[in-house]
Amino acid sequence: MIALERASEPEQAPNPPAAFEVERLTTAYRGRPALHDISCAIPDRRVTAIIGPSGCGKSTLVRALNRTLELTSGATRVSGSVSFGGLDLYAPGVDPRAARRSLGLIHQQPVAFPMSILENVLFGALFHGLCKKADRESYARVFLEQVNLWEEVKDRLHERASRLSGGQLQRLCLVRALANRPRAILMDEPCSALDPFSTRHIEEQILALRESYPIVVVTHDIGQARRISDHVLFMMDGRLVEAGPSRQIFERPRSRLVGDFVSGRCG
Ligand SMILES: Nc1ncnc2c1ncn2[C@@H]1O[C@H](COP(=O)(O)OP(=O)(O)OP(=O)(O)O)[C@@H](O)[C@H]1O
Ligand SMILES: [Mg+2]
Repeated sequence: MIALERASEPEQAPNPPAAFEVERLTTAYRGRPALHDISCAIPDRRVTAIIGPSGCGKSTLVRALNRTLELTSGATRVSGSVSFGGLDLYAPGVDPRAARRSLGLIHQQPVAFPMSILENVLFGALFHGLCKKADRESYARVFLEQVNLWEEVKDRLHERASRLSGGQLQRLCLVRALANRPRAILMDEPCSALDPFSTRHIEEQILALRESYPIVVVTHDIGQARRISDHVLFMMDGRLVEAGPSRQIFERPRSRLVGDFVSGRCG
């Protein structure tokens, strides 16, 4: 098995190296193509937004980045590769479970496992042997503090997580991913079920976490993409139409299609 553990901390560079490299990736659902020959680089320690109209393949791409795509029945990677930190994630020696743990994916609808807040936080960490039973609370506290959730839940760690509000629950999902000691954070429309206040909370967390992780956020909210992203991938009909620094995509896109989409002239 090839390890996907975090290597030593590189310095923050003005033009950071790519964390993910996607090369000529083509995928299909039951033989029907969904992504066509996608090639792109996703920078380290930056926020990359994936935008584009509904059904263009954003979720498919983000799921291909951490090998959760193949958990969907009928989904296949037809050709091409995805590498992270120079390691081909689809190489024969790579354990897909290690890829999924190291490259945590947070979904649109936050899901509470039917257990306490503390058990939710530690679910993956205990399974993967990252935390000793005796240190459970102090281990969880580090990650709860990281997303400013500790003060809100410190007196109710043993209550069922399903009692949390939607915004708290989405932050709990982020904590659960962080407690797995990931090397990247992937989010598929993390705020679409949240009110503006909770959305702001999550956006603040994303910006804080970008110091430490490459972050990929699929979003339908162009305002959000403008606020939080450094880099943008614009997709349409399963193809990558344009990729580049956010400023370029929002202010001087090369493609008219992208210009129309980001200015709200088409949806
Ligand atoms: N499980 C599935 N089985 C069959 N086809 C699927 C499946 N999931 C997605 N698709 C198809 O693959 C294409 C890309 O879907 P995907 O969910 O990646 O789009 P998206 O950009 O995330 O859309 P949205 O913005 O609505 O979430 C669409 O045509 C969709 O209908
Ligand atoms: Mg989607």
